[in-house]
Amino acid sequence: MAHQGAAVEQFDRWLRHEFLDLNTELEEAYFAAHREILYGPDLEVIKQAIALNGAKLVAQIVEAGTTPVDARERYQLLGAVGLYLGACRRHEVDVPEHELVESLANLLGASLGVAPRYVFAHQCLYGYRTFTALDDERVFVTHNGLGVLSYQRAAHALRRIPAMGVSSPLAAYLLEDARAALDDVLLSNRTLSETLNVDRFFLNIRPYFKPYQVGGVEFRGANAGDFAAINEIDLLLGLCAAHDPFYQRVLTEKYAYVPPEDQVLLRAAVTGVSLLELLFREAATGPVTAQLRANAERFLAVCRAHGAAYTFHHHRLVKPFLETPAKHAPEERVNDITASGPPLDVVLGGLQRLSDLRAARDRPGVVVTAQASLNKLREVINVEGR
Ligand code: HEM
Repeated sequence: MAHQGAAVEQFDRWLRHEFLDLNTELEEAYFAAHREILYGPDLEVIKQAIALNGAKLVAQIVEAGTTPVDARERYQLLGAVGLYLGACRRHEVDVPEHELVESLANLLGASLGVAPRYVFAHQCLYGYRTFTALDDERVFVTHNGLGVLSYQRAAHALRRIPAMGVSSPLAAYLLEDARAALDDVLLSNRTLSETLNVDRFFLNIRPYFKPYQVGGVEFRGANAGDFAAINEIDLLLGLCAAHDPFYQRVLTEKYAYVPPEDQVLLRAAVTGVSLLELLFREAATGPVTAQLRANAERFLAVCRAHGAAYTFHHHRLVKPFLETPAKHAPEERVNDITASGPPLDVVLGGLQRLSDLRAARDRPGVVVTAQASLNKLREVINVEGR
């Protein structure tokens, strides 16, 4: 019986080498035929090698006994098992000994309070993992990861402001920091849109993010939005509201798909008071000082940067990389396109609404955003500041 640490290491090594090579070989074959998947005896041999060898290595981990004590190691192991299950789903191949593999995933998920599948955090925050050796996948994971880090930097700056007060000179520094971080999100989104090949993304990268079953329950697919910072920013800026039923669905739906420490942040974010509200409160208590006005202007710049980065996500990533190629995808593949599971137009409708909320752009009869409140803030700081 292998020592558990050694069995985990062996599995990890396999994921980094043989698994990577086999997936790459399959992807090159699919890409050459411009198809999302192909079937045929030679390719089935490769698919079976992934399924069988992975299951054997996971079985060794289970046989070696107890799960890791350290929570981070358990989360990383969940990601490793999930990567394997995600690849089996992508190549449409059954998992041998699926009960054994899935029960390990379930045990790890239950011990951490998260969905028992791999999510984007496993690929970029808990190690750096790709399914293939394709350049486009490296570009995709890297720039998504940079986007997440930048969002986290912005959230980190903003969440410190309520305690110090919105008119503090130190809040000015944090607002500048948040704006710069959100400009970085736009930059990494832009680089991604200019570097990533649409067909590579659609045919060779996206299919690994599909929903898959664990223990008879289907868990929705992975996406780069499964982290708390973007929601903390929405709520701290006051662009989205914790009592809005649409936004509540967004939050509760993603809860199981973010890492455990992000769950704590999501819980804290829904009870706080927004900076927008704090600015109004402070303006109402006395004359608008030069510092308060300058901070309010910085706040508005942060809101603009958040809207710009997310509008870019919608119009320059989601549409060209997903919506447009989906129009040309074979009929039988179209139902299967989104990561979350609902039909593409439903997912796009939700993303459009988030884009409107973050950009504070009302759509009459469809969505009311913070547009009027931001205009009011502009009035308050100008009129009362004279
Ligand atoms: C080719 C690149 C990308 C495409 C095609 C894309 C597409 C999508 C889609 C379709 C969803 C909805 C998932 C679903 O329900 O099925 C989504 C969610 C999300 N994505 Fe992306 N995405 C890309 C890159 C990025 C990057 C670089 C970031 C930056 C961190 C990002 C941030 C988010 C966020 C935050 C969400 C969650 C929904 C929300 O709160 O807005 N995405 N993305």
